[in-house]
Amino acid sequence: MEYKLANLKPDEIATLKIRGIYEQAGYKKYRISRFEEYSLYAENKDFLGGEKVITFTDLDGRLLALKPDVTLSIINNSRATREKPEKLYYIENVYRECKESHTYKEINQMGLEFIGDIHENGVVEVIDLAAQTLRKISPKYILELSHMDFVLEMLNEYEMVDIDKVKMIKQIRNRNIDGIIETGKRSRLSKEQIEKICLIPALQGNVAQVIARARKIVLNEKMANALDTLENIYKALKIRDSGAKVKLDLSTINDIDYYNGVIFKGYIEGIGRSVLAGGQYDRAMLIFNKDVDAIGFALYLNEISRLDFDEVVEQNQNTNYGEEMLNIALPKGRLGNQVYELLSKIGYECKDFYEENRKLVFENPEKKIRFLLVKPSDVAIYVEHNAADVGIVGKDILLETSPDVYELLDLKIGKCRMAVAARNGYEDDLNRTLRVATKFVNVTKKYYSEMNRDIDIIKLNGSIELAPILGLSDVIVDLVESGNTIKENDLQILEEFKQISARFIANKSSYKFKNEIIEDIVNKLCELTRGK
Ligand code: PRP
Repeated sequence: MEYKLANLKPDEIATLKIRGIYEQAGYKKYRISRFEEYSLYAENKDFLGGEKVITFTDLDGRLLALKPDVTLSIINNSRATREKPEKLYYIENVYRECKESHTYKEINQMGLEFIGDIHENGVVEVIDLAAQTLRKISPKYILELSHMDFVLEMLNEYEMVDIDKVKMIKQIRNRNIDGIIETGKRSRLSKEQIEKICLIPALQGNVAQVIARARKIVLNEKMANALDTLENIYKALKIRDSGAKVKLDLSTINDIDYYNGVIFKGYIEGIGRSVLAGGQYDRAMLIFNKDVDAIGFALYLNEISRLDFDEVVEQNQNTNYGEEMLNIALPKGRLGNQVYELLSKIGYECKDFYEENRKLVFENPEKKIRFLLVKPSDVAIYVEHNAADVGIVGKDILLETSPDVYELLDLKIGKCRMAVAARNGYEDDLNRTLRVATKFVNVTKKYYSEMNRDIDIIKLNGSIELAPILGLSDVIVDLVESGNTIKENDLQILEEFKQISARFIANKSSYKFKNEIIEDIVNKLCELTRGK
């Protein structure tokens, strides 16, 4: 049968183009059942990154799951030994939770695994195949490498306990300097130690330059070895013609129980999330009592399903990354105006911004920036989904919605506090379930679960202060700025538990492709807000 490429969807075209590369490299197609024993996932929740799983009982009474992941099944079933390695690729559907729509999604995934005695050659082979995979999808790609040992060994040297390590890794991954400082202080690290960790998010970009800068903060042999390995792999990739679009980002780190050695992520310009992710997972093999090395990656075909291949081919000749506009999502209203003032002070102004009209989009083509005026609570959604490259959003929204974005800077404006308040004279009765009215359901749940308190949440969208007055709730969790609303409604603050301010956030993929302009804005804003 002859395939007409024009009739196929982008992910189907990609599959066709890519499987040939894998076959040529000696990888065999692997098929597995759609179902798997649920216990496999229940015991390896961290590997799935908290994914929820669809379960059902089969006709023999066994609890089965619709596969949320392929690699775990491959590890579980692999018969590979050091003498007899296995090289596999797969195209399978997995079933995962879609957090936004709160439903399960069927996701088409393609991936490749090399299990056996791998050495550096095997690592290079797989990363080269990852680069070739991305190249088949678009010439505008970035393959970003990291090494698990770099960050981990630094945290080990500082003798951080596991629970603090996990929190610190989250802040490093989000490039959140303020978060690193706060977590460092809570973990009783010294000022010098915190300062060293703060340097990690900047260890991204050009391979040679990043390695040179990273060498200056190496604390032990394992960190030095990690850099040597990355350097060798990069050299080998250049020889194989796959070095041109390779970058480093040493702040990338995967789950510490399963991954070790080199890890990597692939990005395509115009797609807001990574489309490919992989790494060495010898540790996962050990968990399954298998004494072999392993490395692999998955390509998320659903992420490329909206890609216009014709357009990509046309762009092929002209790969000028810096030419596009930077889309900045500003929150409508007072905070947005304050942020605009800051941006215009650092040279990113837009003449008609203050014109009296209902326009929502303002451009300065010369500076290559475009402002989008959006509802404050929607800024993070625009940025996470790549409708905007960067945005300014309150920390309250970030805490409530946990978007998958980089949190690059505390702008130190829009300051307020997240607080618990009640009617004047209110006395808490610990024997009763507390009724809490709030806009911030997730923040509230976390706050009370940390103190083991049973609560009923009443979700409101505004005028929260009315709830205790009318007896709808015992207390409220809300933002307090001047304190006037609390005072004028005869309420009292019981506890202020979080300082809130505006944050500069970036889409993870945009940060890679428009790095120069984003870093320029962040550095200048950082200068401007220093000491505030
Ligand atoms: C916010 C917040 C408080 C008030 C606090 O409400 O929810 O109600 O501001 O400010 P203050 O301490 O300076 O009095 P917002 O004005 O956003 O309106 P809302 O009630 O519709 O949420």
